[in-house]
Amino acid sequence: MKLPFRCLSCCSAISSEAAASAMVRTGNGGQNHEAFQVFSYNELRNATQGFSSSNKIGEGSFGSVYKGRLRDGTVVGVKVLSVELESMRGEREFASELAALSTIKHQNLVTLRGCCIDGARRYLVYEYMENNSLARILLGGEQNRMKFNWEIRREIALGIARGLAYLHEEVKPRIVHRDIKASNVLIDHNFMPKISDFGLSKLLRDNGSHISTRVAGTLGYLAPEYAVSGHLTRKSDVYSFGVLILEIISGRPVVSFNLEQGEHYLVQKAWEVYEDRNLGRLVDPTLEMNYPEEEAVRFLKVGLLCVQENVRLRPSMSTATKMLNNEIDIQDAEISQPGLLSNFMDIKLGQQNMSS
Ligand SMILES: Nc1ncnc2c1ncn2[C@@H]1O[C@H](COP(=O)(O)OP(=O)(O)OP(=O)(O)O)[C@@H](O)[C@H]1O
Ligand SMILES: [Mg+2]
Repeated sequence: MKLPFRCLSCCSAISSEAAASAMVRTGNGGQNHEAFQVFSYNELRNATQGFSSSNKIGEGSFGSVYKGRLRDGTVVGVKVLSVELESMRGEREFASELAALSTIKHQNLVTLRGCCIDGARRYLVYEYMENNSLARILLGGEQNRMKFNWEIRREIALGIARGLAYLHEEVKPRIVHRDIKASNVLIDHNFMPKISDFGLSKLLRDNGSHISTRVAGTLGYLAPEYAVSGHLTRKSDVYSFGVLILEIISGRPVVSFNLEQGEHYLVQKAWEVYEDRNLGRLVDPTLEMNYPEEEAVRFLKVGLLCVQENVRLRPSMSTATKMLNNEIDIQDAEISQPGLLSNFMDIKLGQQNMSS
């Protein structure tokens, strides 16, 4: 049921503004006119069988995600965000998501179907992704990895690259995602990747090339210069994308304490085998020999180019896409050392034993 915007009058100013602008922008001929809806709480409760545990498909730091079926039969993923009323923690993420996703549409970005505001709870309604996230299915064990043949991995890497290039270089204002990682890449029934979770995204206004911001994101994927100084540019996302490419081709998570000593940190390992001129060693063994070696090594090189410590040497996302496609030849490209948060990671990740 489409509710009149009046129903939002009880909610806080920031959400009302974000939802209002979403409604106005989509209502005036924006691309999502057909799709974007403000749902009532009852509609979402019915769709998810009362947010039952059997409908729960995931949990993140801001709340849980439930599978639901709307009255028109559409299957959706409903994210429940809890807002702490005192600090308003969570509200900013809700507003960012609405602001970023309500007016843009791309085949490699998850579609936001609508939202709902009910007391201190905020709900985001997305298209449902049959194959869950890259973290769950690609990095979730050997059996799962075997489902990803070379062609699927290539298309996933390219899809993520196109989605990011769109955010960085096509939409206005430009968007820096800030939390590119395997659990934020959802995979649809055709194994098409969709970037999700714009809760931390920042809009780069007035053609600005950077903004200073409170550091947010996920360790292991965070560009060191951003982690240390809070200086955010599109190249911080490029760094995270580089880490993702290394994960997709190697089938290893960015940090894995299950592996033997010396193999824990993927970026460090990739640099080591690159220096030994043996990058091919990093390709996921579950692919057996069923992949074009030259192309796999090229993808790993693009990953390493994206994680270089020197921010200016990292390619833009459109250039990275061309490199992956071999439209720009990188066979003899010089790759400089990667940015590593090693010391920081030893302390933080060692304590938390984080794997993604
Ligand atoms: N639209 C969707 N369709 C299918 N599964 C989804 C959808 N949205 C989220 N999920 C699943 O729910 C999980 C939780 O998502 P959420 O974004 O809340 O947290 P996260 O990305 O895992 O962690 P973090 O909060 O640290 O970003 C995802 O990892 C994914 O497995
Ligand atoms: Mg997420």
